[in-house]
Parts: sequence; structure tokens; C-alpha cells
Amino acid sequence: MDAVQHVFKGTFIHSTPRCDCEILEDHILGVDTAGKIVFFEDAQKQSKLAQKWKFDESDIQELGKNEFFMPGMIDTHIHAPQYTFIGTGMERPLLEWLEYTTFPIEDTFSDVEIASNIYRTVVRRTLKFGTTTACYFATIHTDASIVLADTASQYGQRAFIGKVCMDHNDVYEKYCETSEESIRETERFVEALKKKKYDRVKPIITPRFAISCSERLLNELGKLANEHDLHIQSHISESPAEIKEVLRLFPGYKNYTEVYNRNKLLTNKTVMAHGCYLTNEELHVFRERGAAISHCPNSNISLCSGHLDVQNALNHRVKMGLGTDVAGGYSMSLLDTIRKAIEASKIIFMERSKSERYNNETEKEQKKNVMPEGINADDQNGILQFEKKVLSYKEAFRLATMGGSEALSIDHLTGNFEVGKEFDALLINPDAIDSPFEVFSDISKEELLQRFLYLGDDRNIRAVYVAGRCVVPFPSNA
Ligand code: GUN
Ligand code: ZN
Repeated sequence: MDAVQHVFKGTFIHSTPRCDCEILEDHILGVDTAGKIVFFEDAQKQSKLAQKWKFDESDIQELGKNEFFMPGMIDTHIHAPQYTFIGTGMERPLLEWLEYTTFPIEDTFSDVEIASNIYRTVVRRTLKFGTTTACYFATIHTDASIVLADTASQYGQRAFIGKVCMDHNDVYEKYCETSEESIRETERFVEALKKKKYDRVKPIITPRFAISCSERLLNELGKLANEHDLHIQSHISESPAEIKEVLRLFPGYKNYTEVYNRNKLLTNKTVMAHGCYLTNEELHVFRERGAAISHCPNSNISLCSGHLDVQNALNHRVKMGLGTDVAGGYSMSLLDTIRKAIEASKIIFMERSKSERYNNETEKEQKKNVMPEGINADDQNGILQFEKKVLSYKEAFRLATMGGSEALSIDHLTGNFEVGKEFDALLINPDAIDSPFEVFSDISKEELLQRFLYLGDDRNIRAVYVAGRCVVPFPSNA
């Protein structure tokens, strides 16, 4: 039995298998020196727990009245090198954006010094914004990708690091590898990371997307992932032009999902970004394989790629997490992703209701000016209907935490405050001195959470823990 290193008392909010948003007030949680949650109980049991776990009750860290702990957020899809140009260049659609903005900048990461400056900034910024786990794309450069892994490990972030694989690039030929290089360098990358024996940083096999990989490369990467039991990430069905090009390049495959599936790249350790245009048949394959979708609504909107119908994917019981997709997405913060996910689902709902109404001329006459856009006047319970069909803030909260851990198949390690998991957590202070919102009166914990999710930012994140280690505020020497 490891000794207890932290005991916290106050309010904890997390998702459980049965509840998107469980709020536990006046609870007490202990973390051992290995970073694991060893007890999580009603605070009435404090004295008994103190005896059993041999801690001094005066060492308990008590939260302020409005403070609460929530699980650390999980970014299931982020391009670390693209932080260089975040917030710029989004006037072009995906394929042109890759050609004119992304590839030229990623190419400069052959210089390890450029890479290490940006990567240090990215890891610090994401941690400060509450991202305790990040699933990163780096670039095609192995040494710079190793630097990203070193940096995440040094700052204590839980991370998957992908050395990007591309053996086909018609539009920016300089930024490309041969198939042999791509395979050899991926092997070197995986071996290098294994040797480092990081606690919480792992390699992830990363074919960029089907357009930038030959069938042979996809096949070899699939084999490699399976041989070493590695995670896999890529992009899928993000934009109509991209899908058209994939089907042109891979005429022997019936759809985009088949391109990855037949090359053994869809496993229960796979996370595919976007998936806006996946058909129900393709979603079914995802479900069967246990592969996950990283929902990246900021990027989907910013690059005018499309919308993912989250509810439909969830109804197909496909695992799902959220992704910032920096810098197709312009925000490093998963709080932004939560908001965009809710808004994107409301846009789909309104558009659908509108077209349903206009498809029926008689109905159109009857309902004109009766109900606001988006609410189906035909349904006596318009609001109920609305609640069922749009993503709630509680569901979005789950996607950002437990959903992400399921998507990355690390839900046995993190994602909520279950005893036995590692303590990845954010200490939220809604009353921070420079908070971007006010708490005027006694409001419920549920309302506090909503305010934070809709209005809060890093100023409200008083501390960030990964596996029990306090990683934000940064140590003075970091
Ligand atoms: N598809 C292939 N590469 C990329 C990328 O860097 N960003 C996004 N959003 N989609 C991609
Ligand atoms: Zn991406």
C-alpha cells in the first residue's frame, strides 16, 4: 500500500458509465504516491479514512465554497507544429490550406531548434488550458518528433506522439518521404520512444490521411501497429473534396473507411479525426472495430469542411472524444471545443428542422411564424424534442473527459475519479480574481459548472494534476 500524497475535500464533478455529469459535494479523495486515487468517499468518513490511510486530518486540502475538481480534459486530435500559425490562414478550404499554409510551415520542423521552441510553448499552453492528455500529430521529422515526446514527458503531460507519415504529396513535393523512409523512420521513432521508458508518453502510428499515403505505406503501417500493439491516428471524411480525391486514388475500395479498414488501421486503439461525411454503413464498421472518432467542430467550421452529426455517431455507439485540431481549429482550449460541439449540433438541428418544415407545404402554411426556427411546432413537446436532439452541455463535458479516455482506450487509467485510476484533474475556481465571469449569489454546483464551461478560461483553472503530480502552476524552474 503506497502512502497517501494528497487528500482533497470538497466538490467533485465527473462522468460515470451511467451519468454524464455526477456532482458529489462534501466528498474526500485520496491520491497515493504513485498518482492513483485510493479512496473517494463521503466526507463523513474522514476520520475512519485518516486512520486507515495514516494521514493527518490537518493535511487535508479543503476546496473553497465555489471551487470544484473536474477530470483533466483530453484533446484527442491536435497538430503541435501548427501552433506556429494558429489563428491565421483559415480563408482557404482544407486541401488548399494544407498546400499553401500547413505543408510549408511543417517543413521547417526539419530544424530541431525551431521545433523545440514551438513544442515547449504548445505543451505549456495546452497544460495551462487544462489538457492533461493530448494526442499529437508532429511532422514527418523523427528527431523533432522525439523532442515533442521529451517535452510532454518533462512537463508531465500524458501524451501520444505521432511522427507523421507521407509518401505522396503532389502539391508541395518538398514535404514528403519515400515509402521506405517513412516506414524506417517510423520504426526508429517507435524504438526511440520505447527506449526512453516514459511513464505516460507513447508513440502513435500516424498516416497523415489517405491522400498522402500510398496503399503500400498504409499496409506497412497497419502491420507495424498490429505487431507492436500501437495506437493509430489519422483523418477521415473531413471534406467533400478530400473524399473525392481519396476515391480517385483508391478506386478498388468502396469507401474511405474501407481504405483504412482493409489495411488494418481500424482497431480499438484507433482515433480518426472529423468523420463529417461517414455513412451509417461506415459508422457500423467503426463500431465493430472499436475505432473512435475525434470530433473537431472548430476546425470543421473554420475550414468550411462540414458538420459531424454527433448524435447519429453516438447512436451508432461509436467511441468519441473531442479534438481542437489546432490549427485548422483556432483555439488550443477544449472549453472552446465543448462550446463549438454544442453549437454545431444546434446548427444541424435547426437546419434539419427547417428543411423538414419546408418539405411539407401544408405544414409550412400552418406553422409559419408560430414557433422560432429550429423548434418543431408540430411536436407539442417542442422543447423536449430539442433536448433529445442537440448535444447537452453534460454530454459535451463527458466527451471532453471520459469520452476522450474511451476514444484513446485509456479509460482504465483516466477520464474520471473512479478509485484505481490515476488522478488527472483540474481544480476550478469560479471566483478567481480575474475571472471572466461573475458568481453573483448562491448558485448550484450545476450552474457553476455550466458557467465555467460556457464562460470560463485558464484564469479559472487554479491547478492541473496529471497522475497526482501538480503540473500547473509550472514549477519555477520549468
Ligand atoms: N488532413 C490531412 N492533414 C490535415 C491537417 O493537418 N489538418 C486537418 N484538419 N486535416 C488534415
Ligand atoms: Zn487534423
